[in-house]
Amino acid sequence: MSSQKRVFSGIQPSGNLHLGNYIGAISQWVNMQDQYDCFFCIVDLHAITVSQDPQKLLAKIKELAALYLACGLDPKKSTIFVQSHNPDHASLTWILDCLTSMGQLERMTQYKTKSDQAGASVGLFNYPILMAADILLYQTDLVPVGQDQKQHVELTRDLAQKFNSCFGPVFKIPKPKMLSVGAKIMSLQNPKQKMSKSSLDKRGTIDLLDSPQTIKNKIMAAVTDSGQEIIASPNKPGISNLLAIYSITTGLEINQIEKRYQDKNYGQFKSDLAQEVVKFLTPIQDRYRTICQNQKGLAKILTEGKQKAKEVSQKTLDQVYQKTGLR
Ligand code: AMP
Ligand code: TRP
Repeated sequence: MSSQKRVFSGIQPSGNLHLGNYIGAISQWVNMQDQYDCFFCIVDLHAITVSQDPQKLLAKIKELAALYLACGLDPKKSTIFVQSHNPDHASLTWILDCLTSMGQLERMTQYKTKSDQAGASVGLFNYPILMAADILLYQTDLVPVGQDQKQHVELTRDLAQKFNSCFGPVFKIPKPKMLSVGAKIMSLQNPKQKMSKSSLDKRGTIDLLDSPQTIKNKIMAAVTDSGQEIIASPNKPGISNLLAIYSITTGLEINQIEKRYQDKNYGQFKSDLAQEVVKFLTPIQDRYRTICQNQKGLAKILTEGKQKAKEVSQKTLDQVYQKTGLR
């Protein structure tokens, strides 16, 4: 096709999409569409590594697809599809499973954190390999993600290198791409914990579909640090996090915002930030509602996305089958 570099990334259709997802991942995706050949996936097979209600899951898949579009992903520029619609992801996972050592997976911090809950599934353990299959099937150059996914992309690189050296060159070696500001947005209630879909304290997470009043309440109640200065610094994790959110939602540099608030207090800063976040999310929410009214259109985009995805992934999987002696 084109000589453009390839981009692949995905989000799970579980929980509610939040500002951390937008900032760490989607904001990068939107900006990459013109320069790269992009594949953006709704990773539903990853979502079922923890228990999901089947009816809710199907609704969440559609919701996430509509949110991708509402945030600015454009099906004319990017391939947007659902992971389980393309069986190649699960097929490559099995082959990579057989190349991965237990120790490699046991080191994954996300698994260590999530598997604390009783009854963790084999799928949860295997999750990073499915992610590696996602990335490697598309001969991906760049993987735009938040900080928490860096270790998984590194494992993907290791697996690609291992396959290539055992069987001959098939996979491109991908690189993670992270923002310098915003790669890890923290909970508004606990700036030492990342903002997460699974946080128990909902006041710490701003969902993209939260109402303006809820957004205001959450930001005004955000935990701040001692002192009064509005500056980004390692000993001011609460304010630094709010500054990162301010920066991404307004497009201003952190130092410009620090200057703007030199003589102002936390209350003023938070109240302005709440307004900026509402101003930023309102058009996304409006577009989301319009898109949801056209479910047929949405389904068509995902069908076309699946076809385009399959054309690319099939070629890689064929090579993998040949190299490994299965064809
Ligand atoms: P998940 O919510 O785990 O499906 O994550 C989807 C994408 O959002 C991944 O690229 C994550 O790295 C990114 N992400 C999730 N939480 C945050 C956060 N608190 N800050 C920045 N990026 C995040
Ligand atoms: N594991 C990622 C997360 O939880 C989601 C994901 C699945 C992904 N496959 C991917 C991200 C491929 C980037 C590339 O956030």
